[in-house]
Amino acid sequence: MMLTEFAQSVNEGLSKKKKHLPSRYFYNAEGDKLFQQIMQMPEYYPTRCEFSIFEKQKDQILKAINHPQGFDLVELGAGDGYKTKILLKHFLAQKVDFAYYPVDISADVLRELKADLKDQFPQLPVKTLHYEYFTAIQEMNNLGQRPKVILFLGGNIGNFTAQRARSFFRRLEAIMKPGDQLLCGIDLKKNPRTILKAYDDAQGITARFNLNVLKRINEELGGHFDLDQFQHYPNYNPVNGECRSYLISKQAQAVKVDYLDKTFQFDAAEPIHTEISKKYSLREIEALAKKAGFRAQKHFTDAKDYFVDSLWLKE
Ligand code: AVI
Repeated sequence: MMLTEFAQSVNEGLSKKKKHLPSRYFYNAEGDKLFQQIMQMPEYYPTRCEFSIFEKQKDQILKAINHPQGFDLVELGAGDGYKTKILLKHFLAQKVDFAYYPVDISADVLRELKADLKDQFPQLPVKTLHYEYFTAIQEMNNLGQRPKVILFLGGNIGNFTAQRARSFFRRLEAIMKPGDQLLCGIDLKKNPRTILKAYDDAQGITARFNLNVLKRINEELGGHFDLDQFQHYPNYNPVNGECRSYLISKQAQAVKVDYLDKTFQFDAAEPIHTEISKKYSLREIEALAKKAGFRAQKHFTDAKDYFVDSLWLKE
């Protein structure tokens, strides 16, 4: 039997000694909705911080982009464009010559975003790219010669380990052209309690988001997980900046997944690791940029220094 990628990941991850399920499987229709709700939670500061950075520093960002002959603005993982629209609106008001290329692996997301932008900014040239990130950039290299400004926002890089972040940026740098820039939204190290609360909101939305991966296994792979028998547990390590989320088995239990024709054993209090949300210091960000071959040009931070949009140049 051919296993889907999801089934294969579940099988591998739950068969390991240290159980693991990748966080990318949080994001089905229900997970997307829960993440939208998380972004509204008072404890979840990153979205509001990045919004305020764009609101307050949109002009400085534009000046630092400095491509008077025009540029192509590419956004990796565009989503609903909620924060990006602040930049789009400002760039249009300043009569900047640019086109917007949102990239996303969800065709539905891109369709909705395109319709919404047509409505709000009819004069803005938009071309959606329904590709994986690196293919999209290769595609753009084939399309035209204008300099590119690539947006990778929302602290998404934090969902990679340090090693994966490095290789991601190296691969990106290798296909960018000299003069292209990258604006990367990164969550900063701060009071560990502030970070921990952001991943453990009082309303329990983040807990539902985390448990959603088990719900997906039940719905899509015929799993028999009792969601009440697992507990959401986030943990922040201020040394390496990793906030890790786990699902802890409340008791010893065996759970069958029909589609895999397999039963997984859980000890009492055994964790399944589900997500990394890594935080960086500005110094670490500069080192990361350098290691990947970029020059960090400017950091745009919010008033509390909770979050940074860091602008990198490919020389
Ligand atoms: C999408 N990503 C940057 C979020 C984060 O902060 O790691 C996902 C998230 N997980 C729990 N809350 C938010």
